[in-house]
Amino acid sequence: MKERESFSGKLGFILSCIGSAIGLGNIWMFSWRLGQYGGAAFLVPYCIFVFILGSIGLMGEFALGRSRKKGSFGGIKEIFKEKNLPFGSIIATIPTIGLTGILIFYTVVVGWIIRYFYASLIGTFNKVDIPTYFSNFAGTSSSIPWHALAVLLTIIVVTLGVTKGIEKVNKIVMPALFIIFIILMIRSLTLPGAVKGIKYLLIPDWSYLLKPITWVMALGQAFFTVSLTGCALVVYGSYLNDDIDIPSAAIHTVIFDTISALLASFIIIPSAFAFGLDPTAGPALLFITVPSIFKMMPGGNIFGALFFLSIIFASVSSAINMMEGPVEALMHQFNWKRTNTVFIVGLFSFIAAIPLDLSMAKFGAFSDFITVYISPLGAVLAAIAFFWIYGAEKARIQINKGSAKPLGKWLEPAGKYMFVSISIIVLILGIIYGGIG
Ligand code: TRP
Repeated sequence: MKERESFSGKLGFILSCIGSAIGLGNIWMFSWRLGQYGGAAFLVPYCIFVFILGSIGLMGEFALGRSRKKGSFGGIKEIFKEKNLPFGSIIATIPTIGLTGILIFYTVVVGWIIRYFYASLIGTFNKVDIPTYFSNFAGTSSSIPWHALAVLLTIIVVTLGVTKGIEKVNKIVMPALFIIFIILMIRSLTLPGAVKGIKYLLIPDWSYLLKPITWVMALGQAFFTVSLTGCALVVYGSYLNDDIDIPSAAIHTVIFDTISALLASFIIIPSAFAFGLDPTAGPALLFITVPSIFKMMPGGNIFGALFFLSIIFASVSSAINMMEGPVEALMHQFNWKRTNTVFIVGLFSFIAAIPLDLSMAKFGAFSDFITVYISPLGAVLAAIAFFWIYGAEKARIQINKGSAKPLGKWLEPAGKYMFVSISIIVLILGIIYGGIG
């Protein structure tokens, strides 16, 4: 068997994890929630959750992968086997199935984004009614070729492998994304009337901290935004050498993910206010409000194209991580070659998503099913496998391997009791609220 690939170093690894973490959640969810749930007050629960739980979750996933040099499926199966526990192979598939589900619907949206990039470049939005343009396209067969292009882009990168594909692309695309975000933020903040949006984001309404919904949404946001699925970051961790500092990599991922979400908020909300538009959540924000902003903005064509280019970077780097999960699992289980496996996963995920191309209702139902039930369940199962079955003490030793400042004993109860129980709460709250991530 060929030797397992690995990231060339800490920088490539961290940028790849940031690439996974920064995605649509940072753009179409965070900015809206920040405004909706008390402005700067929302940052209090959000930062508590993302810095404490997000980084513990990331450390667990990285170390689970690295300790066995196997992805989620192979690693969890092995842990069950070592303890002679039944159903290991079945339980171990769940996180990978969840991630594959995310891949299926996410690439549909990446297709829409590529189409919007192209439309901004050629100035389409100056001529059309944007809501009509979106509804004539999303949920119809005309989105299929764009979706195919999104899958193809992802396939190309994943085929090239960990160092030559995933790491290399993230090393270019992540710094580029931050540069574009900063340019766009300056543009947005200097628009006449942007001040209202800045106030909306920054003036804290502390009364929101007394409302449970603020905490629930901050918790869901924190889990989703760092890609905790029990698979995605386990796989990246499995390509990590033992001398890399996992706690530091985890905290860097959280910091840059949070910065990008704040930058996105200061791009979108102030400019929406400047043009008298209502900031919304979800697809409508990105595909209706945002192009309407650029339509009215001086130099909107160029800024709009730049914006959608940066969203392509953000979303493709996430899709790459989503595809690598099932690809690694199949390569591991069947000893398949990377090229063939990527082709099979790519084709499967593309075909499986065609019904979602054709119907927005199906798209909504499928993406809710995956993000409410399967993927949080996967995160819970991986955390239980690592912190309970493998054992909290051994987990801490694995996390600390290669770390400049090893974490103390406190990490054991923090992982075993706090993180696992809060992950279960995230799953339950998601079911109660119909989705919080
Ligand atoms: N973190 C991504 C975002 O904010 C979404 C996401 C959730 C993800 N789970 C993932 C990305 C797994 C890659 C892999 O949009």
